[in-house]
Amino acid sequence: MNFLRRLAFNFSYFRKPTWDSGITPPELFEFIQTHPAARAIDLGCGTGTNVITLAKTGWQVTGIDFAPLAIQNAKRKIKNAGVEANLFVDDTTQLKNIKTQFELALDIGCFHGVQNKADYLTQLDRILTPSGFWLLYGFFKTEPRPSAPGFVPADFELIASRNLTLLSRKDSFDKKNRPAVWMLWGKQTGKQVDK
Ligand SMILES: C[S@@+](CC[C@H](N)C(=O)[O-])C[C@H]1O[C@@H](n2cnc3c(N)ncnc32)[C@H](O)[C@@H]1O
Repeated sequence: MNFLRRLAFNFSYFRKPTWDSGITPPELFEFIQTHPAARAIDLGCGTGTNVITLAKTGWQVTGIDFAPLAIQNAKRKIKNAGVEANLFVDDTTQLKNIKTQFELALDIGCFHGVQNKADYLTQLDRILTPSGFWLLYGFFKTEPRPSAPGFVPADFELIASRNLTLLSRKDSFDKKNRPAVWMLWGKQTGKQVDK
C-alpha cells in the first residue's frame, strides 16, 4: 500500500500537483515570527516551498519526502532561491537519514494520509528536541474508503498519548471545502486547549 501511495505521489510531481501552490501559509509565518530561528524539518516537504521560507528566515532546514521527483524539484528550487538546506528521499515512518534533532517539525498535508501513524509518531518523538514543536496541517476524512487520507478522531487520541500537548488549534476549510485544521503540538507540557 505504501509503495502504491509513494508511486502515486511521485507520479503527481511529473506535473504541478494541486497542493503545490508555491505559497507559504500565514500559519507558518506566524510561527516563524514568534519563535527564534533554530533547526527545522519539513516532513513531506514536496517541492520545498516552505523549506525555502524557513531557510530565508534564518532556520537551518532539512526537508524529506518519499517521492524522489518531489525532492529533485525541491533541490532545483532551493538552488534557484540561493539558500541552503538538506534534502533527502525518506519515509516519515522511518526517517533513516535523520540522525539529529529539531526544534520544529513541520507537516503540511502529509501526516493525515500516512497509513502507519504510530510509526510516524515514534520517529517524531526521536527527532524532536525535548522542547520541540510540531506544526501540523491536514484535512478531515470525508471519504469512507479505508485508505482515503484525512484525520479521524482516533488520530488525535493517538497523538495525545505520545508525550505531545496541544498548544493551539485553528479549524477551517480547505480549497475543496473539506474541514481542515492547523494544530501546534509541543513536546513540553504547556497550556492545553480542548481537542
Ligand atoms: C499533500 S502533499 C504536501 C506537500 C508539501 N508539504 C506542500 O505543502 O506543498 C503531501 C506530501 O507528503 C509526501 N508523503 C506522503 N506520505 C509520505 C511518507 N510516508 N513519507 C514521506 N513523504 C510522504 C508526498 O510525497 C507529498 O509530497
